Amino acid sequence: MKIAVLAGDGIGPEIVEQALRVLKVLRDEGLAMEFIEAPLGGQAYDAYGSPYPEFTQKICHEADAVLLGAVGGPQYDQLDRPLRPERGLLAIRKDLGLFANLRPAVLFPELANASTLKPEVVAGLDIMIVRELTGDVYFGQPRGMRVNDKGEREGFNTMIYSESEVRRIAHVAFGIAMKRGKKLCSVDKANVLETTEFWKEIVIDVGREYPEVELSHMYVDNAAMQLIRNPKQFDVIVTGNIFGDILSDEASMLTGSIGMLASASLNETKKGLYEPSHGSAPDIAGKNLANPLATIMSAAMMLRYSFGLEAAAGRIENAVKKVLASGYRTADIYEPGTKKLTCSEMGDQVVAAM
Ligand code: IPM
Ligand code: MG
Repeated sequence: MKIAVLAGDGIGPEIVEQALRVLKVLRDEGLAMEFIEAPLGGQAYDAYGSPYPEFTQKICHEADAVLLGAVGGPQYDQLDRPLRPERGLLAIRKDLGLFANLRPAVLFPELANASTLKPEVVAGLDIMIVRELTGDVYFGQPRGMRVNDKGEREGFNTMIYSESEVRRIAHVAFGIAMKRGKKLCSVDKANVLETTEFWKEIVIDVGREYPEVELSHMYVDNAAMQLIRNPKQFDVIVTGNIFGDILSDEASMLTGSIGMLASASLNETKKGLYEPSHGSAPDIAGKNLANPLATIMSAAMMLRYSFGLEAAAGRIENAVKKVLASGYRTADIYEPGTKKLTCSEMGDQVVAAM
């Protein structure tokens, strides 16, 4: 297994280091894994003048899977847009064709009090958000800023989905629903936006091939509200790129902290990019304070989705559960009565629990 490791910016290197320690436990037991490091985002801009340089592209194309930390930082905000770290992330997603982004929002029972919502609202929560990742207003052309006919400056983007793009993400979502609770909610804004009215039409059509799955539809504003009101009504959610971006951040807080949310981004083959759903957290970077669990659980997703190693993935997830059950917490999920750990200490505990 060739794994490209892109630590990235901010807390990226700290959290990736802990995930690698956990994977190396399995490697030392005989699982053949090779790790190849390459830069992405601001780190890559500093070294190569591009947020997704050819050097990194080559390594990612040759790898079987990619493990990513996070990208971005305030020192890069003034760069020309194409050079900014976030563009590196968008470029790698597009380049590797990673159209299916899986973001599980699972609440560990031990963290029911860490959520800002009442424990009874979130206890037992287990949602899978399937976000389309290479289309929508994120990539639609034309886009830009210009001076219009009246001499006024304006900004514009294009929300667009082709039929094949909607079909393939719908198939992924129905496939996942089949393996879970057989309930799929497609989120749109079909009352206003043609792009998503079209989305809904195609999802319904694909649904005919999955008669066992109970398909429902919800407007995105209502979905945002329902996620807070009664999140346990959801099993699998499928939605476009921009709505998925927003709803997955929202869903992460149901689980107590965005530091707990792993993610997998998959293409048509089994190649995937695995990264925590959170960002680079420049405010705590380099302080050994970050929560590495989302990255560690992203590594578990990598074993499951790219390599079919269900048992190994489960072992990592169980180790995380055990550590939480033992009362260990990083600062973001700390509550009185638990033991507060640094990022690397949390890594120590997961390694020990393995
Ligand atoms: C995410 C992030 C990215 C996105 C940013 C960093 C470009 O918010 O992965 O959710 O908008 O997709
Ligand atoms: Mg986001």
